[in-house]
Amino acid sequence: MQKFKAYRTFQDDKDVSSRFVEMTLDELDPGDVVVKTKYSTINYKDALSYKGAGKIMRKYPTVGGIDMAGTVDTSSDPRFKHGDKVIVHAYDLGVAHDGGYSEYVRVPGDWVVKRSPNMTAFEAMTLGTAGFTAAQAIELMQHNGLTPRSGPVIVSGATGGVGSVAIDILAKLGYHVVALTGKEKESDYLRSIGAAEVVLRQSLDLTKIRPLEKATWAGAVDNLGGDVLAWMLANMKQGGTVASVGLAADTRLTTTVMPFILRGVQLLGVNSSECPMPLRQKLWDRLANEWRPTRVQSKVVTIDFADLPTHFDAFLKGMVRGRTVVRVGADTVGL
Ligand SMILES: NC(=O)c1ccc[n+]([C@@H]2O[C@H](COP(=O)([O-])OP(=O)(O)OC[C@H]3O[C@@H](n4cnc5c(N)ncnc54)[C@H](OP(=O)(O)O)[C@@H]3O)[C@@H](O)[C@H]2O)c1
Repeated sequence: MQKFKAYRTFQDDKDVSSRFVEMTLDELDPGDVVVKTKYSTINYKDALSYKGAGKIMRKYPTVGGIDMAGTVDTSSDPRFKHGDKVIVHAYDLGVAHDGGYSEYVRVPGDWVVKRSPNMTAFEAMTLGTAGFTAAQAIELMQHNGLTPRSGPVIVSGATGGVGSVAIDILAKLGYHVVALTGKEKESDYLRSIGAAEVVLRQSLDLTKIRPLEKATWAGAVDNLGGDVLAWMLANMKQGGTVASVGLAADTRLTTTVMPFILRGVQLLGVNSSECPMPLRQKLWDRLANEWRPTRVQSKVVTIDFADLPTHFDAFLKGMVRGRTVVRVGADTVGL
């Protein structure tokens, strides 16, 4: 039986560690569709799970990688056939079901997104879960009333994957985007992907947040949680929308009800893992077409599969800029 390479996470006693192994298709978790991987990515969640942090991985051993793009090899699901161009991400992929850090994945047909003919596997993974989540957050905010005329939109964790793609899409849609970052040296990068203004996190006094501050932001995409999210809530304009996406700084939120009851602020939760397939497919099609974040896509870092383990720690230290694509089984760039 054909063997292939995978990066699998194991638990030995209480220690969690990951390593490259050879596997066969029969050893992968079950599914109706076998997909040959071309590219995967690194997300913050992948960086947490490879050594067992944050209780992200729920089963051991599991192949990591919450994203992949490639072509269907075989399928017993009539919706897919050999050669179909697809994306698989979210659900249990890479956390409780063997994931995208593998030359093949085997998944339920219900998890498989049909890739637009306008989007290569490489382009899909320049976005990955982070880019998809940015699109989901913006869709949710617009659904709840945000328009470019509402006022400025602030994005935290701006140099990260979700932040960068959110800035690019929002700017493309005509929003005045303010990037909130901890990295002064990345100001030019943030402006180059669409930020109209850059605010340094160090310039905020997060120790004294009043229940209501100056009404400034019409929208906010938050990747950090904690004090930054509390500060955003206090600074929202009347009817403002806040998408809570991440926890890169803190899982806690200490705030008051004042922004909600006096300014009608809407705090919107974003969970890309469970996004229903019709909306998932619609957002991927938009990302391939009218929302295509070309500025971020042109600035990704691409790494070889063999180098994957050396790249996780930079994510945990908040040192990464934009998106990182992993070349897994790509024999032909552009498919
Ligand atoms: N809800 C969902 O479905 C969903 C989906 C995807 C991701 N997420 C979450 O969203 C967050 C962002 O994901 P990502 O893929 O964009 O991560 P990423 O690429 O690692 O970027 C995170 C960014 O946040 C900032 N940051 C990191 N650590 C920090 C810290 N300790 N304190 C303050 N700022 C810090 C940094 O940006 P600056 O230096 O520019 O501030 C960093 O580049 C993560 O928490 C992730 O788990 C949630």
